[in-house]
Amino acid sequence: MRTQILPSLLAADFGRLGEEIGRAEASGAEALHLDIMDAHFVPNLSFGPDVVALARRTAPGFYRNVHLMMSRPDLYLEKFAAAGAQTIQIHVEADCDLHTELRRIRALGLKNAIVLNPETPVERLDPYLGEVDEILVMTVHPGYGGQKFIAECLPKLEYLRARLPGIDLMVDGGINLETSVLAARAGANQFVAGSHLFGQSDMRSAVEAMREAVK
Ligand code: DX5
Ligand code: ZN
Repeated sequence: MRTQILPSLLAADFGRLGEEIGRAEASGAEALHLDIMDAHFVPNLSFGPDVVALARRTAPGFYRNVHLMMSRPDLYLEKFAAAGAQTIQIHVEADCDLHTELRRIRALGLKNAIVLNPETPVERLDPYLGEVDEILVMTVHPGYGGQKFIAECLPKLEYLRARLPGIDLMVDGGINLETSVLAARAGANQFVAGSHLFGQSDMRSAVEAMREAVK
């Protein structure tokens, strides 16, 4: 099973966004995680397709993983695809037909993923397990970076890993050197980290340390 580390741009210095994208790419991380918030699905606003396009322009070879925390992701799929998203992640709690939208993401030539909030039972994913390239289990309530990891989410990873031994299973929220190990033991192989990675002056060493820790 491959390991992937994804710095979350939400924790970057927005005054130097281009440089921060470059720093994340140079860290040796496999992909950039871009958090899109609509102030409706979550109580916060972040950024839109222009920042995804900036990432493509700044670091064309750095894979773009786009997490849509939106009530109506269906209205924006084409815009994010055109901006350069390579994986689009949509929430099972969103207000749209998931089967249709997961199919549409693939039809745009992208990888799809389904995301689960901490309070949502993992069984809600059952109808979609045969239709997804990747699953993201949130380990904080989405909306803000720098929150505390919710360990009660770990059994969801075990449930999913037991059913889908080969699938990419991602965690997002409160991930640091210690919590990444807990998530890896429970079955995760992709690790999003915002404040932990962008908070380091040497992001490369931090990415290497996490890669070692989750082995
Ligand atoms: C939370 C976002 C996360 C966030 C993680 O709503 O989905 O991707 O950037 O930030 P940290 O790693 O600081 O918890
Ligand atoms: Zn995220």
